[in-house]
Amino acid sequence: LTSGDLAGVKLLVSAGGTREPIDPVRFIGNRSSGRQGVALAAAAAARGADVVLLAANIEDAILSEVSDCANVRIDRTGTATEMDAAANREADDADVIVMAAAVSDYRVAGVRDTKMRKEDTGTQVTLTLTENPDILAGLVHRRRPGQLVVGFAAETAENQQALLALGRQKLARKGADLLAVNAVGWSEGFETTENTLYVLAVGGELVATASGSKREAADGLLDAIVAARQARS
Ligand code: C5P
Repeated sequence: LTSGDLAGVKLLVSAGGTREPIDPVRFIGNRSSGRQGVALAAAAAARGADVVLLAANIEDAILSEVSDCANVRIDRTGTATEMDAAANREADDADVIVMAAAVSDYRVAGVRDTKMRKEDTGTQVTLTLTENPDILAGLVHRRRPGQLVVGFAAETAENQQALLALGRQKLARKGADLLAVNAVGWSEGFETTENTLYVLAVGGELVATASGSKREAADGLLDAIVAARQARS
């Protein structure tokens, strides 16, 4: 059994999906429920880790899996900018960082103070989007010795081979130590309760395939994280 193998390990995990305001009542968001990241926080806490969960727009019913956990601290964030600030505030203390949140790549430039009204905008509206900071890349950049940084990739791909090829490119681009790749689509990945995570290591080797419930997938990823930490020491 795996219980206790993360005792004393400080884990920072992001989960959910960021929302970028357009005006006081509208936002651009995504379909990430936060289930996989919350399952990671719960599984890691059960294995003894001290967890900080950066929760972006996660329903209370989903967050409740960890809200009574003594060793999980929940830090709610809304936008990518807020999550970036929180992640950088918490990163130095962490032994392991897992960025499971779906972070918006862009935010709306010139967010309006008042609600956009159709009476004023007419038949077409143009929104200008500005690039958000890549939180994961920033954390990799400031990674301290011994710290393990794990990214996620949610991709739509034709088949497993194509999915892993996209994952390998992303891992190299981001510079993370491990990348958990999962297939997403109209009916896969987001909002579901089952998942398959393909875990890639530096160099692109597939080191684990973790599937089942999101909790089981989380434990499989944590096994790979424990193994990567052991391989280093
Ligand atoms: O490039 P892409 O968004 O697919 O990368 C996914 C990974 O990068 C995830 O780990 C996600 O949490 C992280 N990410 C981030 N900041 C962004 C975009 C993605 O931390 N602005």
